[in-house]
Amino acid sequence: MEEERIINPELEDVKEERLENSLRPKTLDEYIGQDKIKENMKIYIEAAKKRGEPLDHVLLYGPPGLGKTTLSNIISNEMNSNIKITSGPAIEKPGDLAALLTNLSEFDVLFIDEIHRLSKSVEEILYPALEDFTLDIIIGKGPSARSIRLDLPKFTLIGATTKAGSLTTPLRDRFGIVHRLELYSVEDLSKIVKRSANILDVKIEETAAVEIARRSRGTPRIANRLLKRVRDYAAVLGDGNINLKITKIALNKLEIDELGLDEIDRKLLDTMIVQYSGRAVGIEALAATVGEEVDTIEDVYEPYLIQIGFIARTLRGRKVLPPAYKHLGYEYNPE
Ligand code: ADE
Repeated sequence: MEEERIINPELEDVKEERLENSLRPKTLDEYIGQDKIKENMKIYIEAAKKRGEPLDHVLLYGPPGLGKTTLSNIISNEMNSNIKITSGPAIEKPGDLAALLTNLSEFDVLFIDEIHRLSKSVEEILYPALEDFTLDIIIGKGPSARSIRLDLPKFTLIGATTKAGSLTTPLRDRFGIVHRLELYSVEDLSKIVKRSANILDVKIEETAAVEIARRSRGTPRIANRLLKRVRDYAAVLGDGNINLKITKIALNKLEIDELGLDEIDRKLLDTMIVQYSGRAVGIEALAATVGEEVDTIEDVYEPYLIQIGFIARTLRGRKVLPPAYKHLGYEYNPE
């Protein structure tokens, strides 16, 4: 019994991860949405292949859950190359990066998630690696120290970040291809939901797919998560098929409202309307009042609230807009 309790959660994690992976598209043609990026990437990939060269380094930025990692896997797949996946915080010392780089094979893709979190000393090793595929390492200490230069295999770096603004200029300038991922339309999200339902082998009504899409804040990761929860409700309350009624029941139980706002979105808006009386408020003050990290508000919550016209960024801080009052049932009478 004890053993089961310990082992099962891990098993669940593994199953969940496999499920996630099975939902991920493997080719650009399977990938729904982000049409501009797809069109451009197809050309760059074909051109690089024709020339027999690695693809230029790619920077992908935008809110979490929009498919930066998925797209990176697809790019390496379409280039017929291998991908090595790591993240900014995981590369602690210059030696960690040197080890990664010297272990690459020709044409490999190195994917660094949260690339804005690389330390300065690590970044400096990266510059010549990106520019000339060389690695400058210093051996020894003091007066006898010398620098030697190693040739690296030609590789492609794909960097991903939610905070393009936090990237240093020299790093940003070394990416030949830079793309911002946009929040998805309801139409594209509902295509993703139907594709995922098909992979999960569950029947879903068109109206139910649209409902999930409408409440997914422009984000495929959220759409797929909601789909899985709705599927649970359909299995327990119904015959396993997903219809609009069960979808609404499930989403209401999850406290996801008509626009996809959750408890924290509502708390943010409520705080801005009631406590700050609709005046512009600094992000730090707002974060402290609602008890969330500044980064979480900026990266996860704000993009969608800005997109639907509920808040605006102004020089004096964040401002809550009339549609937010209406949605939360307040009269619009700011000070
Ligand atoms: N699953 C998650 N994101 C997707 C996308 N952009 N296209 C297809 N399936 C997805």
